[in-house]
Amino acid sequence: MIILGIETSCDETAIAVVEDGVKVLSNIVASQQKLHTRFGGVVPEIACRAHTESIITVIDNAIIEANIKISDINAISVANTPGLIGALLIGLTTAKTLSWILKIPLITVNHLHAHIYASKIEHENIDYPVISLVVSGGHTTLFITQSETRHTRIGGTIDDAAGEAFDKVGKILGLGYPAGPEIDNISRNGNERAILFPRSYMGKDSLDFSFSGIKTAVLYHCLGQDTKIDRTKPRLKDHEIADLAASFQEAVVDVLVDKTIYAATKFSARGIILGGGVASNSRLRQKLGEAAKHRDIPLYYPSKTLCMDNAAMVAGLAYHKCQEKEFSGLEVEAIP
Ligand code: KG4
Ligand code: ZN
Repeated sequence: MIILGIETSCDETAIAVVEDGVKVLSNIVASQQKLHTRFGGVVPEIACRAHTESIITVIDNAIIEANIKISDINAISVANTPGLIGALLIGLTTAKTLSWILKIPLITVNHLHAHIYASKIEHENIDYPVISLVVSGGHTTLFITQSETRHTRIGGTIDDAAGEAFDKVGKILGLGYPAGPEIDNISRNGNERAILFPRSYMGKDSLDFSFSGIKTAVLYHCLGQDTKIDRTKPRLKDHEIADLAASFQEAVVDVLVDKTIYAATKFSARGIILGGGVASNSRLRQKLGEAAKHRDIPLYYPSKTLCMDNAAMVAGLAYHKCQEKEFSGLEVEAIP
């Protein structure tokens, strides 16, 4: 069964063609990063215009690269929640139109569940239930995952997402956007014990997260209590930036690892799945890997291209929803 996947929830126009849930025939991501960099974050209006301009071309390219004809496609899938409403609507409207014209089923999927599914594309034998941690620019959420399609939310951030904290701290340190990959890289040259930033655990037993405090702690550390950036202050030296980045990253990673392991133990999970852009983080992979191994819990995460927003994870998950006959009608809505 061949499924075309569409993912436009934020700033990537992503289209993929996937056969039987795991065979990725094409996976194209048209990144808008350059358009948003100078604003230091995603500008919804710019994202929507860019999706509209590129989506048809990206679909054409995905079909050509998959070496199939449009008539070979058996179903259209799209992420319809959560995300920027305008951006979601462009993907959803395109998906509905294709489904209607080609007279093939429409399958809508949750973007976060698709991030969890990304691991399944590369690790076929995952034993459920698992604890899934989705960490991205917009989300930090823990789920109990009973199957490819069944997820129960058990915790999440009450303010900033982990990726958002990386991006905001990057801005304070004068790095580019998105700053996650750069913080990851420069942290390798820093001392993660140089500065003891606060770890917010939200009380014993809590599976919720809070990352806005650490962002403020980094800001105060750099500028003193005066939050107005004093341009006359000497710029941070490279080794100071590396120490700050490594210490910040360590604090975020510690909380993510501790809560995920706590959840895995509490719910007797048979594994842990890590997904989303921040799942690329090398320190998170290392520390969660060590902690899981210590408790004999298998850890799964996708390769970096499948951590970031992509449509292969959407089309892959849709295959399982299709098996369960979970189709959507043309009245289905986008939910931000
Ligand atoms: O999943 P994603 O592509 O988009 C959203 O759904 O948000 O995640 C993007 C986020 C950005 O905040 C980016 O800074 C972060 O993932 N990120 C990283 C790394 N690579 C990407 N954060 C930390 N370390 C990384 N290596
Ligand atoms: Zn995402």
